[in-house]
Amino acid sequence: MIDLVKYEKRHIEPLLTLLNNSNVTDWLYKIPVPYTEKDAKTWLKFCKKNADKNENILYAIELNGEIIGGIGLHQRAGHCYETGYWIGEPYWGKGFATEALNKVLDFAFDELQIVRVQAFVFEGNTASERVLEKCGFKQEGFLLKSYIKDNKYINSKLFAKVI
Ligand SMILES: CC(C)(COP(=O)(O)OP(=O)(O)OC[C@H]1O[C@@H](n2cnc3c(N)ncnc32)[C@H](O)[C@@H]1OP(=O)(O)O)[C@@H](O)C(=O)NCCC(=O)NCCS
Repeated sequence: MIDLVKYEKRHIEPLLTLLNNSNVTDWLYKIPVPYTEKDAKTWLKFCKKNADKNENILYAIELNGEIIGGIGLHQRAGHCYETGYWIGEPYWGKGFATEALNKVLDFAFDELQIVRVQAFVFEGNTASERVLEKCGFKQEGFLLKSYIKDNKYINSKLFAKVI
């Protein structure tokens, strides 16, 4: 069973291990490569700055008190948030992303009382698509060249859960 917690300094070291892995970062937009201690500290500052606001809601995913990933909710409109998440490779395939996303969805729909959570998935990210489907998201679109990363255009799929 995982917990969603605020990011803390003790997460910095494991973040460096988990995020210096292209199998994880290839599928994420705007993540620094290599991922340095400075990047982790900047991230923690951003999280702290956002702590009392509802615009960016950011959680470390912990298993038995150790960070294994991250998940966020980003406000796109009063009624709509976008989610993004990752799990460190040693922890893949154990249902942790699905569990984390379901927790975040409960918070979004029950506490924030919004009606739409959306997610963009790079083309080819079958595992993430599966996570979204397991959590009740439906694909709404296929967006050509919607991202650019390492000077390459990336197609993406838009998924949403709407209540
Ligand atoms: C996508 C990611 C978050 C999934 O995390 P996870 O904890 O392994 O996910 P879960 O275990 O909850 O579910 C994964 C599902 O995908 C399936 N899956 C994994 N790889 C797959 C593949 N190549 N093809 C088809 N299904 C796949 C698993 O079997 C599982 O489905 P099941 O429960 O029906 O068997 C993780 O792989 C990751 O962090 N990837 C890199 C970053 C990323 O892609 N983030 C999301 C950006 S949109």
